[in-house]
Amino acid sequence: MERFYLTTAIDYVNGAPHIGHAYEKIITDIIHRHYKQRCDNTFFLTGTDEHGIKIQKTAKENGTTPKEMCDKNSSYFKEAWQLLDIDYDRFIRTTDEDHKKIVQGIFEKLLKQGDIYKHSYKGLYCSGCECFLNAKDLDENGNCPIHGKKPDEISEENYFFKLSKYKDAIIKHIKENPDFIKPAFRANEVINQLQDIEDISVSRSITNVNWGIPVLSDPEQIIYVWIDALSNYITALGYNVDGNHGELFKKFWPVDVHVIGKDILKFHSIYWIAILMALNVELPKSIYAHGWIMINKDKMSKSIGNVISPKSVMDAFELKEADALRYFMAITAQNGRDGNYSDEEFKEKVNADLANNFGNLLNRTLNMSVKYFDGTILNEHINESELSNKVQETIKKVKSAFDEYDVASAGNSIIELADCANKYINDNAPWTLAKEGDMEKCGKVLYTILDTMAALSILIKPFCPNIAQKVAEQLKINTDLKLDEIKTGLLKEGKLISKEEIKPVFLRLDSEFADKK
Ligand code: MSP
Repeated sequence: MERFYLTTAIDYVNGAPHIGHAYEKIITDIIHRHYKQRCDNTFFLTGTDEHGIKIQKTAKENGTTPKEMCDKNSSYFKEAWQLLDIDYDRFIRTTDEDHKKIVQGIFEKLLKQGDIYKHSYKGLYCSGCECFLNAKDLDENGNCPIHGKKPDEISEENYFFKLSKYKDAIIKHIKENPDFIKPAFRANEVINQLQDIEDISVSRSITNVNWGIPVLSDPEQIIYVWIDALSNYITALGYNVDGNHGELFKKFWPVDVHVIGKDILKFHSIYWIAILMALNVELPKSIYAHGWIMINKDKMSKSIGNVISPKSVMDAFELKEADALRYFMAITAQNGRDGNYSDEEFKEKVNADLANNFGNLLNRTLNMSVKYFDGTILNEHINESELSNKVQETIKKVKSAFDEYDVASAGNSIIELADCANKYINDNAPWTLAKEGDMEKCGKVLYTILDTMAALSILIKPFCPNIAQKVAEQLKINTDLKLDEIKTGLLKEGKLISKEEIKPVFLRLDSEFADKK
């Protein structure tokens, strides 16, 4: 694998980041860190989506300007991603000058070649979705089913994009490329949506929406948010309508995966694909639609008052590092399905997996190796047990889970390996072997565990980079190894550790957190 490019959705900045936004950024960061273990050239793009009626309205309600509000709120997203160790390469804002200029160029190109045309239009606009809805999409009360609000009736002259022209080509592409939409169960949903697809409005009159990118040849019209937002995936790399692309575009496009939520799959697998087809740009290799994070099984919403920010979770549990939250988020939802967050589940899961299963195993083993061997690794202790086969099996499983962007399965396979290592230590009871004087066997058992822990620390690094670092420091190994470099015998012969150097790599979350709501 030579290079890997991945993106997240860009978040609206009319509020602060919540753990749903965080979930997406965490799983994408984990995928990115995993692929860094498989190839040298990667690019991870995230950012904020700052234009549109929603921002314009919220800014007005708050007595501020859209730009001031965007600057402030966008910085909250950046701060949150820093707190969560999200290691992106570019944070794009749709208010960035380079982005705006390229979007205007894209619009003009599509207009010139006839893919965009002007048309008088009457429609139902949901500002929550930032899109027009059909009457049949509404619920029985005439509300948007996602936002529970009546859409606005809008009548204006807009530019339209000839989406219907691309319908058959998109259906063909989806059918011929089973890896295009992941998980695969979502593909049918998209094919169904494509059946009655119509041309879409791609601009708004400046009299109704002024916070956006003006159409270059017709400044009375503002480019509609989805064209603006979706284009970020290529503007960030220096795409150029004249074909004079920047180095990043040449190197990284087509994207390997767009990671997005299930609610915006239609925009990515239909609108975006049609735009790229019209621009004659290569299509993404895949689009991964994740499920939603619920709170105590309820949908997160301002009206229910159950919106949780990642910082509030970190503060409540007095966490200085994000590993626990990253790990929990990664495994709380099965591939593409909804997941749940509750304080109780969070605490129980990370205590069981990270503190008991993973951390304690290392701690116990290092302590025994100091007690019985003065913390020294001997050559004859080299690991030849079936556990080393399990390590190789796990690497294969983890890779194939990540091939599907199934972060939860990958995380579970890693913890299963820690389970096997725990079973191995209990079955072989090195403490009994030492008591019986079988030091050769005792040494082999301890070495086997530590060697497995070395492999585990590399495997878990994308999920828990800080824990991995602490394990690596105690085992004196290099966690920058590629996955293919994990083999038996990672530990060096000789003095490994003294009693004073042994430190827990993860502390249990023990305080009681009564329901805060
Ligand atoms: N701005 C658009 C995306 C444009 S991408 C070119 C948007 N923004 S959003 O802020 O509403 O959502 C950003 C991402 O967060 C989306 O992928 C969305 O699915 C995801 N999530 C929002 N709430 C979520 C949960 N409760 N759980 C998981 N992800 C959720 O849509």
